[in-house]
Amino acid sequence: MIWTKHFEFANIPDLTGKLAIITGSNTGIGKVCATEMARKNCQIIVASRSEDKGQAAVADIKSATGNEKVEYMKLDLLSLKSVKAFAEEFKAKYDKLNILLNNAGVMMCPYGLSEDGIETQFATNHVAHYYLTMQLLPILIKSGPSRIVNVSSMGHLFTSAFAPALEKSSEQKGYNATIQYGFTKACNILFTRELAKRLEAKGINNVYVNCNHPGIVSSELSRHIVSQKSFLDKVYNNYMTITTENGSLTQLYLATSPEVESKSVKGQYYVPYARPGWSNPYTRNQKNAADLWDFTEKLLKEKMPDYQGATI
Ligand SMILES: NC(=O)c1ccc[n+]([C@@H]2O[C@H](COP(=O)([O-])OP(=O)(O)OC[C@H]3O[C@@H](n4cnc5c(N)ncnc54)[C@H](OP(=O)(O)O)[C@@H]3O)[C@@H](O)[C@H]2O)c1
Repeated sequence: MIWTKHFEFANIPDLTGKLAIITGSNTGIGKVCATEMARKNCQIIVASRSEDKGQAAVADIKSATGNEKVEYMKLDLLSLKSVKAFAEEFKAKYDKLNILLNNAGVMMCPYGLSEDGIETQFATNHVAHYYLTMQLLPILIKSGPSRIVNVSSMGHLFTSAFAPALEKSSEQKGYNATIQYGFTKACNILFTRELAKRLEAKGINNVYVNCNHPGIVSSELSRHIVSQKSFLDKVYNNYMTITTENGSLTQLYLATSPEVESKSVKGQYYVPYARPGWSNPYTRNQKNAADLWDFTEKLLKEKMPDYQGATI
């Protein structure tokens, strides 16, 4: 890749005293982020759905970094009950949270529904991360300066119309796995912008929320589109992609770089390597952002009757 690097692992500051949750950090880009942040003394919660994979990642990260403050906590984004239980367990155990890295994702899977009847990609990539963030927001505000990073994708360009996609976000009729992935990754950008706007409107200046495209990265994300053993997959992963190490840099920048605070980077979409990027105009449309917010709030209240609603 010809892009120059504005940020490298060596630029991650000392993170002693900081506590981070990284969703989907048992593998891929998330695991690299967890490892490199642990190497800089950050306390890490590996939040993932499989205890076996999560504990294996914890062991790998501890042995690679010598940092013993790395812990697995169960989080299944296909279950809002699991998200709630995770947030409650976390808040019972810890009274601070400095970095929330909403990294987990699923791409272009066949049509399916979460435990709550929400389409799989929409549930995983947007709704569950929104719900998780709302429950952790008070502790992030209390722990400020703090960071929220929502991992989006240039795949948001796969879709061009937001409102119709939102209306039929869990419908099987007309489901197109590629367009749906793009829609959910557009949601990550719109959510980021709306949350940043609402924080600012409330005079909360110490929470830095941003989103990013990590690059086209060799990881397990392509599991639903190509057989992992196929020739196509080998070509894709060997010649068309960057490594998970390089793919982690942009979100590591947003999660850790002092520049984010010194330059007051908020509500932005960054691309490799750690530079402001261009996103489709409809992800910069204020009405789309507000509509997504209202839609998600309504959906969560319907699915989780004890959800009190966003505090922001
Ligand atoms: N790779 C790329 O080219 C690329 C490009 C643009 C954006 N991204 C974004 O980057 C992020 C990380 O992707 P990656 O490339 O590292 O993919 P990956 O290797 O497939 O890792 C995805 C992670 O998300 C977790 N996850 C999926 N569904 C979950 C659920 N229901 N509950 C909890 N965790 C769940 C996976 O856990 P399991 O191991 O249990 O499945 C895994 O830990 C994603 O948001 C993706 O959309 C990636």
